[in-house]
Amino acid sequence: MKFPSEPFKIKVVEPIRRTSREERERLLREAGYNLFRVPAESVYVDLLTDSGTSAMSDAQWAGLMLGDESYAGSKNYYHFTAVVQSIFGYRHIIPTHQGRMAENLLFSTVLKPGMHVPNNIHFDTTRANVEHQQAEALDLVIKEAYDPHCELPFKGNMDLVRLEETINRLGRHSIPFAMITITNNSGGGQPVSMENIKRTKELLTRYGIPLIFDGCRFAENCFFIKEREPGYEGTAVIDIARELFSYGDGCTMSAKKDGLVNIGGFLGLNNERWAQDITNMLILVEGFPTYGGLAGRDLEAMARGLEEVLDEDYLRFRISQVRYLGELLDAAGVPILKPIGGHAVYLNAKEFLPHIPADQYPAQALTVALYREYGIRGVEIGTVMFGKRDALTGRTIHPELELVRLAIPRRVYTNMQITYVAESISELYRRRDSIAGLTMTYEAPMLRHFTARFEELPPL
Ligand code: F0G
Repeated sequence: MKFPSEPFKIKVVEPIRRTSREERERLLREAGYNLFRVPAESVYVDLLTDSGTSAMSDAQWAGLMLGDESYAGSKNYYHFTAVVQSIFGYRHIIPTHQGRMAENLLFSTVLKPGMHVPNNIHFDTTRANVEHQQAEALDLVIKEAYDPHCELPFKGNMDLVRLEETINRLGRHSIPFAMITITNNSGGGQPVSMENIKRTKELLTRYGIPLIFDGCRFAENCFFIKEREPGYEGTAVIDIARELFSYGDGCTMSAKKDGLVNIGGFLGLNNERWAQDITNMLILVEGFPTYGGLAGRDLEAMARGLEEVLDEDYLRFRISQVRYLGELLDAAGVPILKPIGGHAVYLNAKEFLPHIPADQYPAQALTVALYREYGIRGVEIGTVMFGKRDALTGRTIHPELELVRLAIPRRVYTNMQITYVAESISELYRRRDSIAGLTMTYEAPMLRHFTARFEELPPL
């Protein structure tokens, strides 16, 4: 079967509401045409993010009742650490309430102003956390990653030539660690191959630079390795994960993705000194080291989620569901980023709306149209999220890609709801000429996409 059906049945349902076009029009106006500011209750199919939006299993919900809420040494902490160590293998496991806190603790402890962090592509909060330390976040993914038509099995790979050239140019001592994001979210949810990870590690080892994974979607990345990388067809995904993490010196992790939980994260490290300094900081800003900003029950749900996410029937369904949406859109001629990623389908707004220039935020305009017409919420990954102002001219420097990400929450929507999304977007594509651009009327100094406000321009 090309698209396997759901390997679970539904025990609890959460009603979703259809709204009228007039209501959505009003909500958009009130939200300043920013979908982050629209109440979730008024969204029909919510593809804003796959983060923290998973449906937990019966075993996870049961685990919540086994939460031990002791301040120190909760039994769930020991279970959680044992599970994480059995998959990730790092010596020190530091729980945090979500991924960006793991990033913040690592970066605020290790980075100094003027330092540099290479990555395939930094996610927005990762970049912002690096820059917050007055360090530089460098995106060194292979150049094909920026070509939405180029179909490569591992389009998230690090460009090793550029990485070595960067180390030589900036000096090994200004690079305290390098990162690899699996899967590469900002580049289309594309996986990184084991071969590339191994070679990145070898290169970094020659220069004495540690490798830290951003492991949010590690299980999806490992499933792609099993599907696509010669030599891994017969390897269990958990063993692929163990091998992959063995090439790293640590990881930041948002368990809100492949931990299958609504909240939670952690930092894994082999470096004793970093772990010690970070633990001290953790006590200051998150909580005692055996709970790190979470309840005991959250740690239990996370431990169980990390085991469930490696179930291969689950992963096969997961990756196929995303692919199902992508292939329906592709068949209807809708321009999408290829190949289809692990957690999301990315609409190519430059080709969807060629009549809207980049400084009128075509990808944002597409998110507005999707919500107004069909109650579907996606997220802009383009100029609003990654555009930068040139310090001299004040003009905007646009990112290479203008995308709308349709992120699929894990185990939440049925394939019929996904079909609705595909049919809606295909219809919108047929009348794309009616969609107008936007002008930005407010922006915050950092991470502006969360709070920016816009007005609609008259149709061309
Ligand atoms: N790294 C990556 C690759 C991410 O995708 C995210 C979050 C984070 C780090 C930060 O984790 O949210 O737990 O603090 N991505 C979400 C998204 C928000 O929608 O892609 P967090």
